[in-house]
Amino acid sequence: MTPSHLTVAVVGATGVVGRTMTQVLTEREFPVGELRLLASGRSAGRTLSIDGRTYEIGEALPDAFDGVAIALFSAGADIAKALAPEAAARGATVIDNSSAWRMDPGVPLVVSQVNPDDLARHEGIVANPNCSTMQLAPPLMALRDAVGIERVVVDTYQSVSGTGGDAVAELEGQIRAHVAGEPKAASVYPHPIAFNALPEIDTFLDNGYTKEEWKVVTECRKILHLPDLRISCTAVRVPVFVSHSEAVHVETRDPVTPERARELFGAIPGVVVQDDPAGHVYPLATEAAGRDEIFVGRVRHDPSVPDGRGIAFWVVSDNLRKGAATNAVELAELLVARDWVRAASRRGAVAAGGGGA
Ligand SMILES: NC(=O)c1ccc[n+]([C@@H]2O[C@H](COP(=O)([O-])OP(=O)(O)OC[C@H]3O[C@@H](n4cnc5c(N)ncnc54)[C@H](OP(=O)(O)O)[C@@H]3O)[C@@H](O)[C@H]2O)c1
Repeated sequence: MTPSHLTVAVVGATGVVGRTMTQVLTEREFPVGELRLLASGRSAGRTLSIDGRTYEIGEALPDAFDGVAIALFSAGADIAKALAPEAAARGATVIDNSSAWRMDPGVPLVVSQVNPDDLARHEGIVANPNCSTMQLAPPLMALRDAVGIERVVVDTYQSVSGTGGDAVAELEGQIRAHVAGEPKAASVYPHPIAFNALPEIDTFLDNGYTKEEWKVVTECRKILHLPDLRISCTAVRVPVFVSHSEAVHVETRDPVTPERARELFGAIPGVVVQDDPAGHVYPLATEAAGRDEIFVGRVRHDPSVPDGRGIAFWVVSDNLRKGAATNAVELAELLVARDWVRAASRRGAVAAGGGGA
């Protein structure tokens, strides 16, 4: 099989991430032979226009994966739990965007520029990290490699597109209602999101954290191969349409200056440093939207940590692109480039162990 013959499926193709995936596949000229856009039975038979091309939607049923080489899933955890093994059994390699498989020790959880080698051991399912984890892992990797990391505290400011198309419509509706002087009806979120900040993303766990916060904790440990990393997160939904922002405080093992940290961040592929406070230059959600890079700025010494071992910074990235679709397509590109599209056991490779928390 040559790369030009790859049959690619996008599951959840009608959703905000699925549509971005199709767009990114086209933009990056991924070697697609046949593209199958799949969604629920509700959408089957409908057509979808993306970048001037019209596609017919099929229903995501097990036999839709016959002949598929790579399946990009973004249809939620229940669908991924049910359908990813069906797709993998038919020889496809699934790159799943949901939380279903991320912490499975047998499934690689990969950020393209952080731990691409972990892809080698996949057995038909690869997990794409949560969007908040995705933009945090590369700067943490750079600090881990240069000065070691002892502790991380991160607070997120997450856009409504991270919830999905319904939440985007809810924010728009509440802004219109506000302007019209009408009540702001909330159904996706427990409170109005317009002109608000909601410290509740996903459900609450017994430890007082939300699932979203705990995903950042456990996924960072797995991706960075630091199972004992001390890390805490507060995740907040804000009335931004696209791009997540994060305030990050890191206690390093060895001292690090802001100048050195900027150099380290700027050397990571796909990371751009925007840091000129005097000129009001720092990463912004509105400017990151539609871009594939991760933007880092406001890099400064954290005086609450002794011996010059504290560094604070601000990270912004488009949650639909690098936070979901772009990383998924980058993983597909790596699988093709390294000839790892087929599962490790099917290639005769030895599947290595976990490496995660
Ligand atoms: N948004 C983000 O920033 C982001 C980032 C990382 C990961 N993710 C993950 O990506 C997934 C999708 O998110 P989204 O934001 O794109 O949500 P969305 O806009 O609500 O879209 C959901 C998609 O799932 C499909 N779907 C629903 N039920 C289905 C079924 N029974 N069988 C097949 N397809 C079904 C929908 O198809 P219909 O149109 O037919 O209902 C739609 O295409 C979620 O797992 C989410 O956690 C999202």
